[in-house]
Amino acid sequence: MSLVAAGLSKEYPTRAGPLPVLRNVDLTLARGDALAVTGPSGSGKSTLLHLLGTLDRPTAGRVTLDGTDPFALPEADLAAFRNRRVGFVFQDHHLLPQCSVLENVLVPTLVSRDTTPADAEAYARQLLDRVGLAGRLDHRPAELSGGERQRVAVARALVLKPVLLLADEPTGNLDRKNAAAVGELLLGLHRQENTVLVVVTHSADLARMFPRRAEVNDGTLVTA
Ligand SMILES: Nc1ncnc2c1ncn2[C@@H]1O[C@H](COP(=O)(O)OP(=O)(O)O)[C@@H](O)[C@H]1O
Ligand SMILES: [Mg+2]
Repeated sequence: MSLVAAGLSKEYPTRAGPLPVLRNVDLTLARGDALAVTGPSGSGKSTLLHLLGTLDRPTAGRVTLDGTDPFALPEADLAAFRNRRVGFVFQDHHLLPQCSVLENVLVPTLVSRDTTPADAEAYARQLLDRVGLAGRLDHRPAELSGGERQRVAVARALVLKPVLLLADEPTGNLDRKNAAAVGELLLGLHRQENTVLVVVTHSADLARMFPRRAEVNDGTLVTA
């Protein structure tokens, strides 16, 4: 498994003309790599993560995952590819308020043809055990703390065994203690599952936990 970004550029069309955000970014990550991306607000960190995760298309350059260029796929295949290969954790947990913890973790499996409902549920329970929430399966998100909600979001991101795990400011809404716990959890699960992990963060504490660090600066990615 490898993630290769080559010559990646992104401009957003705006009424004032094209807004260049990323210029010619190169990045190669292999299975087992974990990278923290820092950089000022508005520098293009989320944009980079969206390109790597195929949520948005680059203006120029290529992303390949295991040699496949996902953007060359038809739209429906691209969605299936993303669902199967990429797990996302966002700053806001994006859990469904009316669903239980277990149901929330199972959401990505509902549209997957790679797993049976019984296998999916068994794995979801296992993941929730690993994130320390085995006793909260039937709780609603509103009944959890911020840190617990984010741990559910991590379990949900991993339920389809993605090869690429992306997190955008996953600890941005958490206090220090919960932030450290979610950071440990992401890195621990990443090591166990041998994924590629890319985390965008403002937190120097979180970035320091990562073996590789880079900074988005003036549209480019600089090794930090
Ligand atoms: N859909 C969009 N259309 C136009 N401009 C955008 C869009 N998304 C982001 N931008 C702009 O691109 C720049 C980078 O945004 P973003 O990647 O969200 O930065 P970061 O995550 O580092 O704070 C910002 O100037 C932002 O306003
Ligand atoms: Mg951002």
